[in-house]
Amino acid sequence: MTCDKTPQKIQNMFDEISIYYDKMNNFISLGTHYVIKFLAIRKLDIKPRTIGLDLCCGTGDFTKIISKFYPRAKIIGLDFSSQMLKLAKQKNPLGVFIQADCTNLPFSEKEFDFVTIGFGLRNIQNRQKAIQEIYRVLDTNGRLLHLDFGNHNVFGKIFEIIVPFFAKLLGKNSEHYKYLLKSRQDFPTPNELIKEFEAEGFYLVKRIDYLFGTISAQIMGKI
Ligand SMILES: C[S@@+](CC[C@H](N)C(=O)[O-])C[C@H]1O[C@@H](n2cnc3c(N)ncnc32)[C@H](O)[C@@H]1O
Repeated sequence: MTCDKTPQKIQNMFDEISIYYDKMNNFISLGTHYVIKFLAIRKLDIKPRTIGLDLCCGTGDFTKIISKFYPRAKIIGLDFSSQMLKLAKQKNPLGVFIQADCTNLPFSEKEFDFVTIGFGLRNIQNRQKAIQEIYRVLDTNGRLLHLDFGNHNVFGKIFEIIVPFFAKLLGKNSEHYKYLLKSRQDFPTPNELIKEFEAEGFYLVKRIDYLFGTISAQIMGKI
């Protein structure tokens, strides 16, 4: 059975789980997700006076890290869930956030020096279109940072046990949490994903694995 990733369904789901989203991430990763996001962003080597776009920005972790550690760069967060964006704005009161769909970005060609997307591509039905859109808005010498779950291993199994436990604890709609697990299982491996990026004109600059490959970051450049 494959995951239903109809955009409206995904948008509604993230609107509904928004208030538990950060708590769940902190709980299941024991806080490590924030550190991994920080370490992956550092690999981008963001320069002053550059402008970046954080796609599927959710509650704004990437935008917060970038504006805190690279205050001379500019970052725009984009997401289609109004409720996730509301929380992002609370975390980043001075941040710029836009409600839009990653498969139809409201920007011109080559507007950004860097694009980040964390735990987002996995939820997009038309992944190829999103990758093409990233390519279009990224500058010729720009860099893409993609971060998500990597290889399926023993840590992934632990995750599969913890998530339903957490859902039960909160007494929340377990359908949403089932989706989170399924979307992870359905997602291509980092190697497969790199091939998808390459098919749209990117090349691999660097791949970094965290927690024995449970989480993987790929930094891609434009050919
Ligand atoms: C798992 S969260 C990731 C949030 C954040 N990047 C993080 O790492 O914590 C996925 C986010 O992607 C957003 N999203 C999914 N599909 C999208 C699309 N087609 N366009 C814009 N946002 C989308 C959801 O609304 C959700 O906020």
